[in-house]
Amino acid sequence: MSALGSASAQSSVSATTAVVILAAGKGVRMRSARPKVLHAVGGRPMLDRVLELAARHAGASAPRLVVVGAQRDEVEAHLARSDPRAIPAVQEPQRGTGDAVRCALAALGETPAERILVLSGDVPLLAPGTLLALEAAFGRHGCAVAFLTAIADEPGAYGRVVRNEHGAVTRIVEARDASAAELLVRETNAGVYLFDRAFLSEALPRLGTANAQGEWYLTDVIGLAVDAGRPVEGVLTRDATEILGANSRADLARIESALQTRLAAAAMAEGVTLVRPETVTLEDGVTFEPDAVLEPFVSLAGATHVSAGARIGQGSILRDTKVGPGVTVKPYTVAEGATIGAGSIVGPFARLREGTELEEGVHVGNFVETKKARLARGAKANHLTYLGDCSVGERTNV
Ligand code: UD1
Ligand code: MG
Repeated sequence: MSALGSASAQSSVSATTAVVILAAGKGVRMRSARPKVLHAVGGRPMLDRVLELAARHAGASAPRLVVVGAQRDEVEAHLARSDPRAIPAVQEPQRGTGDAVRCALAALGETPAERILVLSGDVPLLAPGTLLALEAAFGRHGCAVAFLTAIADEPGAYGRVVRNEHGAVTRIVEARDASAAELLVRETNAGVYLFDRAFLSEALPRLGTANAQGEWYLTDVIGLAVDAGRPVEGVLTRDATEILGANSRADLARIESALQTRLAAAAMAEGVTLVRPETVTLEDGVTFEPDAVLEPFVSLAGATHVSAGARIGQGSILRDTKVGPGVTVKPYTVAEGATIGAGSIVGPFARLREGTELEEGVHVGNFVETKKARLARGAKANHLTYLGDCSVGERTNV
């Protein structure tokens, strides 16, 4: 078993890797009208996170195939907007992850690529360094396949990694097909694999469907490689939250909470005070300067920036908003697409809408709504006012 270090996250690896993203499944357990991979964590569809990781790892110009099937029109329309370079590969009907990869290879055709990196559209928190470690293990052992694993406290429905008495992987068994003894195994399959393409092409046609779901399982390729005497590595991911997969709403909530823990830790490491970190909601695009303070139940989204010494009051919700140095945002303020100049005081219960621009030292008080309003330096609107499509002069008191 090789364990991952926190390899630094600079990409990109061999140009001969093609990436396959599995996204054709019905996602039955979500009980949703929306395709599973378009459900969001941290405000962004899971599929977009996986596509971004794929481009970052294999290089922007490496082929990215997305296997689509269930609710294909919606997923394809989303892809056309969010990653037009990604190539949809149709799997119709959906007969398992092995079948999905077969469809992707057919769509890849003669494109030169020696390795196939398979990612799951429902595993959104993988870190780039973890994929580098997977590549490294693959190269070191001259693998037919290397795949990521994790030690789970509750292995639940994940596939189990079966190892022999020497610790070598012998196969992966799905929870539904596992014996009572195999179910006790805590090492789980992440659904992330790096394959030697030639081996994968030979192995896929040899998969069977003798399993609880009657599907072609990609996981069975591992056993085929072992039987053929080809090197196989299960690479342990140190941070088990990276490989959480979303099959249900409960899984989705666990993934969100793992992501929020990560974002809060990163903000605190940058010198931001989070009074009650477990109550704050952040997104990846939010940026901070040191000595900003976030009170409980604050929610920051989009390209929000909080400058040095600014304090964001309890329960405030800010999206795409620039908060200047030393600003005080009092509790329960809602702002979207606004700019708040240095030293301004906003709230409580203020609503700053799109195009609001507050220069330095502006005061906007309770029950004031602004839209496309420019308030010059030192202007005040402290109570019960609507200011829309207007410009308010320096030090004016509304
Ligand atoms: C899969 C793995 C399991 C692993 C887990 C990790 C198999 C058989 N099992 O189980 O070992 O622990 O992921 O999260 O691979 N998909 C298709 N076409 C299909 C079926 C699925 O594209 O015909 C896609 C799904 O959209 C999803 C991914 O493949 O993005 C995984 O499928 P899912 O049904 O979620 O498999 P799990 O039960 O999670
Ligand atoms: Mg899954």
